[in-house]
Amino acid sequence: MTSARTPYYLDCDTGIDDALAIAYLLAAAAQPDSGVDIVGIGSVSGNVSAAMGASNTLDLLALAGRSDIPVAVGAHHPKVGEFRGGAPHVHGENGIGNVELERSAASAVSESAAEMLVRLAHKHAGELRVIAVGPLTNIADALHLDPTLPGLVKELTIMGGAALVPGNITAVAEANIANDADAASDVFAADWFITLVPLDVTMPNVFLEEHRAALIRSGRPVASALGHMLDHYFEFYVGVYGHRASALHDPLAVAVALGDLALKSAPVVRVVVDTTDGPGRGQTVCDLRGMYNGYPEQSGAHTRVVLSLEDDFAPTLLARLLVA
Ligand code: RIB
Ligand code: CA
Repeated sequence: MTSARTPYYLDCDTGIDDALAIAYLLAAAAQPDSGVDIVGIGSVSGNVSAAMGASNTLDLLALAGRSDIPVAVGAHHPKVGEFRGGAPHVHGENGIGNVELERSAASAVSESAAEMLVRLAHKHAGELRVIAVGPLTNIADALHLDPTLPGLVKELTIMGGAALVPGNITAVAEANIANDADAASDVFAADWFITLVPLDVTMPNVFLEEHRAALIRSGRPVASALGHMLDHYFEFYVGVYGHRASALHDPLAVAVALGDLALKSAPVVRVVVDTTDGPGRGQTVCDLRGMYNGYPEQSGAHTRVVLSLEDDFAPTLLARLLVA
């Protein structure tokens, strides 16, 4: 008997950790009876342009033999302002560590990412799980296209923000939120249940050279390609951790969304995004004042902020990626 299928839509700015996230989701979907059904992937400008992110996603899907999954190109520019060229110093000029994957024979679909998300939300009304691991422009655009979206989406999981730790793009702002703070503000203000996976939990969970070597040693096409992509990512993080390693932002958000991880601290609180033009712009202001008495229920709170895990994520991720 096949298990019930659970539809997932992923929105990403395929960069290196986005590639890890896609591979994690593909590996989960390939597990017999997992029920994970990847019904669509949308790209958004962030690490790279939305067009390049879609191309990287298509090429990775082709390498994994999953060109059946539709990919839609999303927003090039943020809600306010312009796309400023991405983060080549972090993810390489092509977004995936300058690793050259074979070009996919598949093309992106004609609808935009926001249009795809709205269509899928109606097709899978009440069941669609949305995972966003890039700036939230497409999610905000979809909300504006169809304000009933929150009632159609089962859960929205977001990699982004920083609750009790510093930002990574400014002193207080994390890249996905900061790259489109206005869109993020709209998304957090809408009436849906959000799981936020911030830097608080993604920065302490890292891959080391031993993990990267295991991926390459596997000789498996996807795992090996990811291992080579991580070389560039590790070099960037020497300036952050003081040694070659990398955070696991996006695959950790996917693992949380799939329910694969035991959460140690994940209170449901109010979260707002600072959209002022001052030093606080892009900050996710999480109301964690309940931390001293077990986080009593907060009126109007609908965001679960994942602050820590029971166990290190790296072993779970490596095991999944080795079968991707
Ligand atoms: O701040 C980390 C996030 O920004 C990750 O999603 C990374 O891929 C970039 O998009
Ligand atoms: Ca990302």
